[in-house]
Amino acid sequence: MSQPKLQSAIVLGTGMSVPERILSNADLEKLVDTNDEWIVSRTGISERRMCGPDDYSSTLGIAAAKQALENSGITADQVDLIICSTTTPDYPWPSTACQIQHGIGATHAAAFDLSAACSGYTYSVAVAAGLIEGGAMKYILVIGADTLTKQINWEDRGTCILFGDGAGATLFGPGKPDEGVLSSHLGSEGAGFYQIWVGAGGLREPVVGPPPKDRPWYIQMAGAEVYKFAVKIMGEAALTALEKAEMSAADVSLFIPHQANIRIINAAAERMHLPDDKVFVNVQKYGNTSGASIPMALHEAVISGRVIAGDVLVFVGFGAGLTWGANVIRWRTESHA
Ligand code: UT7
Repeated sequence: MSQPKLQSAIVLGTGMSVPERILSNADLEKLVDTNDEWIVSRTGISERRMCGPDDYSSTLGIAAAKQALENSGITADQVDLIICSTTTPDYPWPSTACQIQHGIGATHAAAFDLSAACSGYTYSVAVAAGLIEGGAMKYILVIGADTLTKQINWEDRGTCILFGDGAGATLFGPGKPDEGVLSSHLGSEGAGFYQIWVGAGGLREPVVGPPPKDRPWYIQMAGAEVYKFAVKIMGEAALTALEKAEMSAADVSLFIPHQANIRIINAAAERMHLPDDKVFVNVQKYGNTSGASIPMALHEAVISGRVIAGDVLVFVGFGAGLTWGANVIRWRTESHA
């Protein structure tokens, strides 16, 4: 039998950052054979943000992390650990988290990247919660930062319409045992490895010089397969995490799913019998920002007043790997001193 928790990991502050440049569906109509009506009806996306020449996962992550710290009242030198969920690191190694550590001046923090694609934030929340609950660490910055527009084949209409760039950050710290992260459920299915992947740029298929057209350096995706997987796993993972927290979908105040496609979000919400006003959606503005999508959505939910003390939030993500993850969180009832 598991021991009762002495403390839990609560959210102390959130932040986000997106590049300035907006890429609209009309802009994409000029690049590939597509149109606004198709993109909106099949995905719910109207526009997405795209990196300029000086934007990277590290720069967006630094800006988001600074905002999360500011909103939490915790200083950078109090942070014990930075986990950066990214599939688009600035360099193969060392980690983007180390660049963020330096960029924000978190002089006492350890730092590592976590690679679980669009599920990365939910994985990172589970790791942070474990470390805080066990008392190993006090303040952990969880960042989701991705710049997938840098890795898109702009001639592939099946993928180029979907992705956008951004970063979201959440500062976790210790709180009362019945608040914060109540449960997590994580999973993977490597059999679906090739359903969404980048086939070069690692050590099996290095890329030297400009990527040649016949080398799969870009995102390749079997859209319909990933769609079917997502529709099944999103609801299932969320319900499993709720069950672990001894709750049901009826207890959910706000569902904050990975913002991949409005049809996938609606299918998951339907599976959980959640009304529209309990589902947070911002996919129309940012598209699929991979590991950044849930923390960006959380930040927008918080600043728009959609999250109040005691609310039960459910995060759920799915993505390449294949991977999936869900977290159940009770929003803190007291402001942190
Ligand atoms: O974080 C995880 C990341 N991945 C995902 O979330 C992807 C999950 N999959 C999806 O969201 C959907 O499968 C897509 C949005 C990618 C595609 O939607 P769909 O309803 O599954 O369309 P489809 O692939 O079955 O294609 C239907 C038709 C095809 O034409 P034909 O063969 O019926 O003539 C496509 O060629 O739509 C065509 N099509 C497009 N038409 C206009 C595909 N992409 C486009 C496009 N514009 N951008």
